[in-house]
Amino acid sequence: MTVSSVPGSGAGSGAATVATLSGRFLLRGVSLLGGSATDVLLEAGRIAEIGTRVDAPGAELVDAAGLVALPGLVDLHTHLREPGREDAETVDSGTRAAALGGFTAVHAMANTDPVADTAGVVEQVWRLGREAGHCDVAPVGAVTVGLAGQRLAELGAMADSAARVRVFSDDGKCVSDPLLMRRALEYVKAFDGVVAQHAEEPRLTEGSQMNEGVESARLGLTGWPAVAEEAIIARDALLAGHVGSRLHVCHVSTAGSVEIIRWAKSKGWAVTAEVTPHHLVLTDELVDGYDPVFKVNPPLRTAADVEALRAGLADGTIDCVATDHAPHALEDKETEWAAARPGMLGLQTALSVAFDAMHGRVADDALWPLLAERMSGAPARIGRLHDHGRALEVGAPATLTLVDPAAKWTVSGAALASRSRNTPYAGRRLPVTVRATFLRGRPTVLDGAVV
Ligand code: DOR
Ligand code: ZN
Repeated sequence: MTVSSVPGSGAGSGAATVATLSGRFLLRGVSLLGGSATDVLLEAGRIAEIGTRVDAPGAELVDAAGLVALPGLVDLHTHLREPGREDAETVDSGTRAAALGGFTAVHAMANTDPVADTAGVVEQVWRLGREAGHCDVAPVGAVTVGLAGQRLAELGAMADSAARVRVFSDDGKCVSDPLLMRRALEYVKAFDGVVAQHAEEPRLTEGSQMNEGVESARLGLTGWPAVAEEAIIARDALLAGHVGSRLHVCHVSTAGSVEIIRWAKSKGWAVTAEVTPHHLVLTDELVDGYDPVFKVNPPLRTAADVEALRAGLADGTIDCVATDHAPHALEDKETEWAAARPGMLGLQTALSVAFDAMHGRVADDALWPLLAERMSGAPARIGRLHDHGRALEVGAPATLTLVDPAAKWTVSGAALASRSRNTPYAGRRLPVTVRATFLRGRPTVLDGAVV
């Protein structure tokens, strides 16, 4: 990918530097969602023109031959760790990783320190996102004060704040009290919000270290049974149906959960769900070596679960891919299995891993449209981010990412933009490389580097 000026600009032609960028970009020969090559002009923050041989004197010319354009990716589930654990990640470092991964918006989870359970904290995170400028940051508000599961947080004040919070979650913990969950679902209806549940019945997972099954029995580690997730999803789907509110299920990890969500959708209830990239490709057999990089919550499951998750993502039972990007400092991760914190980096590898998981499962020409819907369209709609996830057509915001479908890369924790290194894919060859990302016409990544 090269960027130069289209002849006719006062500045003359030649390689453009960031300082000389005009704000108009002509993407030459790009493939929209894998379709045939075309030119796309980005101007004044919007897609101004699409066609063959678009002429735009003075625009920055991006040689996009062979690149695929997708609407900017949207993550419903990112842990940015600021405020409180800036040693593990900051809003700046996490959103750099996001932009490099092709994301133009991320939802920042509420389990920070202090917890994002007031208008003050969500506004702080939102402002830090604006200052960093790498992508839009939509703060998630906590459902309960301090994630303690006792009292509802100020959901209305967070919704009315400058951060305009629409997604509420105690992620990391389950809202296990059914009455509190019912109240939260009722409350968010007033502002078209959604409760994103970390589905884990806490009594069934006390002391758990990994998926409950053959592997946990073999290794002698306390198991986290599938039913602990499935019981909460079934309960919450019934509650959402009962009160007519929106439920979103975080990081679905079991075949049984997919079945329950399929059933809930068949009832017409407003239930949506996400799957992480790691649950689409990794299994509990990896725990064998006791490397805590594979410790995550919910835990890695079995090959049969992976298969059901892929099928659910393909048929739309699972609406979207969400990273659950969970950076952890070295001392919290490079320790013995039982003491290590659960969580994996995900932002820079998500698109490649999802591509890998779904490649061959749908027709070749349906793969990019599927990934665009599951990683941009659907999460934007669920989070009510109206300027994201839009079809790439004239008049839409120029919020998109350019991907080289033929460029493989090797993952290295140290080379990722995150402050942490806990990637489970270190040393793996992954397909597809993000070359550029544009947010409302402004490049946040060019030539694979943060602008
Ligand atoms: O693995 C996880 N890490 N799962 C969660 O639910 C929380 C997250 C974190 O905050 O580290
Ligand atoms: Zn979670």
